[in-house]
Amino acid sequence: MTLLLGIETSCDETSAAIVEDGVRIHSNVVASQIELHAKYGGVFPEMASREHVLKIVPVIERALHDAQVAWPDVDAIAVTYGPGLAGSLLVGVNTAKGLALAKSLPLIGINHLEGHIYASWLMPDAMDSSPEFPLLCLIVSGGHSELILMRAHGEYEWLGATRDDAAGEAFDKVARLLGLGYPGGPAIQKAAEQGDAGSLKLPRAWLAGTYDFSFSGLKTAVLRIVTADGRRQTADESRSPISVMPSVADIAASFQESVVDVLVEKTRMAAEQFGVKQVLIGGGVAANKTLREQMRARLPVPVLIPPIALCTDNAAVIASAGYFHFANGERSGWDLDVVPGLRLVSN
Ligand code: KG4
Ligand code: ZN
Repeated sequence: MTLLLGIETSCDETSAAIVEDGVRIHSNVVASQIELHAKYGGVFPEMASREHVLKIVPVIERALHDAQVAWPDVDAIAVTYGPGLAGSLLVGVNTAKGLALAKSLPLIGINHLEGHIYASWLMPDAMDSSPEFPLLCLIVSGGHSELILMRAHGEYEWLGATRDDAAGEAFDKVARLLGLGYPGGPAIQKAAEQGDAGSLKLPRAWLAGTYDFSFSGLKTAVLRIVTADGRRQTADESRSPISVMPSVADIAASFQESVVDVLVEKTRMAAEQFGVKQVLIGGGVAANKTLREQMRARLPVPVLIPPIALCTDNAAVIASAGYFHFANGERSGWDLDVVPGLRLVSN
């Protein structure tokens, strides 16, 4: 049995976890800063790193305590070193280095996107049967929208990414336009439940011949509708029968439908072209109910969909990715630095 301590501080969650053999979670502690940043309508980088400084030690202590694990039981430390906010990443990387040095443990730097992929190794079924290669990964979060072909552990082929806003960023910006608050994804999902997704014909950027995405035109279309309305409506405003303007619920539902339609269709095309055995989704936007339903309904192969707590940022997925690198004999040196723009490519 190999136990890894995972540490994740790339954005606004301070997290530590203990994971066995990359597949079994013993603890996964997440201290969220959502309330702190909500009043700014997005993550305030300096506040995020200072909050990580305050939380990191208690969060790690709690992860060891919850797992009933003592330091001599830990075999290695895996930590996110990019992509993300430099000041936030530094807290996790420096803490991991200090602990690895003090406890004489191997250190393994992990790409945050790889963490989102490995959420699918932590699902109950994965303990009996691991995800099968070749595998197509759709990673959609606040900072990323990427389609990645995974042929084996550590073997990634990059197929496409967003050319402007990430999917989660589009949800956050449109939620702000609609006066729905932060984070935007869950707020839009909730508002959309009362709306009609077919009520507005919003644009879809297909970018034919590529696996890239673009959501800025969609965001501008929503901006036009909102400014034409001349005011910001609130979420609980009901649709007025005499108003010709669409309701917030109808805009939210149509926007969500447009994003999900493009994500699902491009994933379906890539799954067919590359003849993958399975598709997995990860990242905060993978928590979206409509995306989860349409992925299951429209993809020609099984779709691995992690529980919501493993889609958003957490350290268990970092420890899982770390295990497979550790098992492969990989180690990071003491010169491990943060790489805020780190990409996930091996070709
Ligand atoms: O992966 P994550 O926790 O952090 C990053 O690495 O960015 O993703 C956060 C993003 C935010 O943009 C948030 O609005 C979005 O995920 N999100 C959602 C939902 N829950 C979170 N987007 C759509 N629907 C949701 N239910
Ligand atoms: Zn993330």
